[in-house]
Amino acid sequence: MDREARLRRALLTRGAAWPAPLEWHPKLGSTNDVLKARARGGSPEWAAVLADTQTGGRGREGRAWTSPPGGLYLSVLLRPRFEEVGFVPLAAGVAVAEVAGEYGVEARVKWPNDVLVGGAKLAGVLTESSSSSRGVDWVVVGVGVNVAVDQTSLGPLAETATSLHLEADRTPAVEEVAAGVLARLSVWYDALEGRPSRVVDAWRACAIPWWGRPVEVHTAQGVLRGTLRDVDETGALLVDREEGGVQRVLSGEVRRLRPTGSDSRDT
Ligand code: BTN
Repeated sequence: MDREARLRRALLTRGAAWPAPLEWHPKLGSTNDVLKARARGGSPEWAAVLADTQTGGRGREGRAWTSPPGGLYLSVLLRPRFEEVGFVPLAAGVAVAEVAGEYGVEARVKWPNDVLVGGAKLAGVLTESSSSSRGVDWVVVGVGVNVAVDQTSLGPLAETATSLHLEADRTPAVEEVAAGVLARLSVWYDALEGRPSRVVDAWRACAIPWWGRPVEVHTAQGVLRGTLRDVDETGALLVDREEGGVQRVLSGEVRRLRPTGSDSRDT
């Protein structure tokens, strides 16, 4: 049975008869880039592109996403008919953390959707979208999960990365993890329409509890220092600035500030 058929079967096991095309490639540049082209060509909602490896995997904030064999590299297409699009990245982080939980792994989400275990990165999500005068045309949700990646193939990133293989009760098949992420994302996506607070509550429940702690947020506009307050009703991060006032952050990288000499892991 090929990978697509195994994925469809794993989805059915979870009660999800997948409504759209699933493509699984041995190697791609970036699954997000391929799916973005499919989106422009009219692919339906929930179409997904997966690859065993990526040669040009992309991460958030312009970073690369090292994509050796043994990882899940999945992109899925959404065509939201509702306003609450800003919550999709949070919903994706929750979905991945929940799937890790199914294998006995206590994963936490760092805003907006880094998935960490004991401070080491297990998974990341890159959400990209296109809008027109009609509103949002499409959203591509790209998910990378270190399922059974050989740590040595990650180079220097290995120090700050982990995998399901290292953390879980058992090493799941990549298709099984893919099915879990797709199925849980579809549940949270349905919940978003009209009820985004459910997603925000679920996100808070699995977020790293840094509330009230000093942080540094690296954004395209510069570095912001302050205390982490909350996420607001649109999914944006709220930071009490050192110099006073509350700043809403739509995109950036949060780092906890610690007294010098303390452990540097993000727990
Ligand atoms: C991050 O944490 O910086 C986000 C990483 C997202 C990686 C995934 S792998 C599948 C999809 N295709 C890409 O090129 N990137 C995303």
